[in-house]
Amino acid sequence: MPLDTAPAPLVDGFGRTVNYLRLSVTDRCDLRCTYCMAERMTFLPRRDVLSLEELARLSDLFIRHGARKLRITGGEPLVRRDIMDLFRDLSRHLATGALDELTLTTNGTLLARHAAALAACGVRRVNVSLDTLDADRYRAITRLGDIRMVLAGIDAALEAGLKVKLNAVASRGAFEGEVDDLIRFAHARGMDLTLIEEMPLGETGLDRNQSVLSLRDLERDLAARWTLSPLRRSTGGPARYVRVNETGGLIGLISPMSCNFCALCNRVRVSCTGQLYTCLGDDSAVDLRGPLRHSDTAALDALRAALMVKPERHAFDMSRMAGTAVPRHMSALGG
Ligand code: 5AD
Ligand code: SF4
Repeated sequence: MPLDTAPAPLVDGFGRTVNYLRLSVTDRCDLRCTYCMAERMTFLPRRDVLSLEELARLSDLFIRHGARKLRITGGEPLVRRDIMDLFRDLSRHLATGALDELTLTTNGTLLARHAAALAACGVRRVNVSLDTLDADRYRAITRLGDIRMVLAGIDAALEAGLKVKLNAVASRGAFEGEVDDLIRFAHARGMDLTLIEEMPLGETGLDRNQSVLSLRDLERDLAARWTLSPLRRSTGGPARYVRVNETGGLIGLISPMSCNFCALCNRVRVSCTGQLYTCLGDDSAVDLRGPLRHSDTAALDALRAALMVKPERHAFDMSRMAGTAVPRHMSALGG
């Protein structure tokens, strides 16, 4: 009998323990945000996408080896028809205490329908993407979206007792005039607001140099109107937080282009086809689907080998913004 039966945790080549999995369950989305996708997108054939059973097995594998936090992402996860079955399946890990947190990143359009069921599965927090409160601008940014659906989704989530965080991608121009409204809207409802610097992920058909707004500049601008106190709170994630004294709420700032957050990185991402990405800013991936179809042991071996070559830090760089630093779209991995 082995002396130590506790499965060894997942550790990368730089000694960072990986305890956070972001799992994309689909590359499809009902929106076409301008910074994320091209207007006409070709999505993956369904047969290439992991089955529900494979998603559950892969999650189990990570959890057995120390993953404490699991975020379901897309594309838009809620457009996958069987997605609530996955949440119901995963909720048992919350019940046993194997998992601390099961979360969701969503564009919110279908959240009104699912918020109560998500809460019943033990989901406590959701991130909802919302870049503007103006219905016309929302339609322009998302190309397809009706803001009323998202607002209803947010209301339903709050009503179901979920903690909601808003994600907004910062951009030059109108956004700068609207960000105060977003702050007031979020904080009046007890929601944090995370501002995200646009990242050069995937061809969108638009020149990102025209839109990218440095969060350093935005923060300077905000500080002229609001009293911002920096918070010392590390989530192991990329966000830096400031408290807005006037509202009492928090603003998270994710600026991968101008800050380095890699040293504490505890996460990996798996695409909906079972490709493991150990770094958002690195396009090399390791296939887990093939090994997983063979056995859990084979998948674990592939996973451990991939972690040994997880990059020390990402390779984004403003000077590469003119092109596309990483060819894959955000919708392939969900951020
Ligand atoms: N850069 C930064 N954020 C992006 N998102 C999608 N594409 C990009 C990009 N190129 C955001 C979405 C969502 C989150 C998951 O990622 O708006 O809030
Ligand atoms: Fe869909 Fe999110 Fe990409 Fe917008 S940013 S198109 S909501 S996946």
